[in-house]
Amino acid sequence: MRTITVALGEKTYNIEIAAGLLDQIGAKARVLSQAVKAAIISDSNVDPLYGERLERSLAASGFEVTRIVFAAGEQSKNLTVLGQVYDELARAGLTRSDLILTLGGGVPGDLGGFAAATFLRGIDFIQVPTSLLAQIDSSVGGKVAIDLPSGKNLAGSFYQPKAVFIDPDLLKTLPLRFLHDGLAEAIKYGCIRDAGLFAQIAAVKSDQELLEQADSIIETCCNIKARIVEKDEFDTGERMLLNFGHTIGHAIEKCCGFTTYTHGEGVGIGMVQMTRQTEKLGLTAAGTAEELSRVLKKFALPVTAVFDAQEILQAMALDKKKSGKKINLVIIEKIGVGRLHKIDWQDIPAYIG
Ligand SMILES: NC(=O)c1ccc[n+]([C@@H]2O[C@H](COP(=O)([O-])OP(=O)(O)OC[C@H]3O[C@@H](n4cnc5c(N)ncnc54)[C@H](O)[C@@H]3O)[C@@H](O)[C@H]2O)c1
Ligand SMILES: [Zn+2]
Repeated sequence: MRTITVALGEKTYNIEIAAGLLDQIGAKARVLSQAVKAAIISDSNVDPLYGERLERSLAASGFEVTRIVFAAGEQSKNLTVLGQVYDELARAGLTRSDLILTLGGGVPGDLGGFAAATFLRGIDFIQVPTSLLAQIDSSVGGKVAIDLPSGKNLAGSFYQPKAVFIDPDLLKTLPLRFLHDGLAEAIKYGCIRDAGLFAQIAAVKSDQELLEQADSIIETCCNIKARIVEKDEFDTGERMLLNFGHTIGHAIEKCCGFTTYTHGEGVGIGMVQMTRQTEKLGLTAAGTAEELSRVLKKFALPVTAVFDAQEILQAMALDKKKSGKKINLVIIEKIGVGRLHKIDWQDIPAYIG
């Protein structure tokens, strides 16, 4: 068992990582909660695979369990589905002392977490992430949200879980494209903070080997995220480092209507594009973009996209990270060393290429 503590005063919680953990969650949740009822919020892919096992584990520890399932996919992360989830929570009779568990990738985690943050003004919740992206990124740090017609993640909250229980065995059923998608974020952590992690991923020879090393990769990533979140829970400073590759990545996702590229694919392209430019500007060690491309390509992640710089600029102008005339970019000086780089908005074209 690997345990990481996210130290946030009264909101402190543990991330536990172990193969087979899914079947122990009931007993572990019982230590954290006196709840009578527990609601599992999951999606239509994950619930049939793991919902029953989680239900059984919770029931064995005395919880009365309700399973709430919505259609898988980002298009469900909206107000309508959130409303249906509230209805089901109310119908099941959950009270403020009861418990929600989110079971799935970042979509059930974000939507279920937002439901937990707001239903009855907030009830305890536990994250049980099942995609690599959720296990290394979205389940840690307390950001919960849904999308609005005007943009992604526009309604949300900071609401920390009581625990995050990660079972790397669950990744065995994750479709490869999503495994690689999540890996792009792991590569990002390597880029901004940990050359050793980057080298570990660069040395992985196959998807099988990746799954075998998943527990140690997950632990390293969660550690990096936990340390950053501890210093900047509400995302006003250091947490922005986690956005490496995301400014261009988001814009590319948006310009392509969120269907051509997954999030991780957009981030991969964004990291390479930004690093190519900062190399040219003398801010990054020569050869870094190439090194990064090599690793991404190995896991079938694209490193370039055909895009119109003007469209990217427009999408960036709307991006919430822009404040006034200045924009905060995340750049890397070399693999393992990321930093914030504040520039004038007018200088941005040089960084997009
Ligand atoms: N809160 C945060 O800090 C944060 C950070 C990054 C991303 N996000 C959010 O996370 C979301 C993306 O996360 P995601 O990629 O996990 O999306 P997702 O939840 O849609 O999962 C991706 C796909 O994999 C399936 N799946 C998940 N686990 C599986 C398993 N073990 N076996 C088989 N299939 C499985 C899902 O059903 C879905 O089809 C986005 O909405 C993004 O905004 C949030
Ligand atoms: Zn991301």
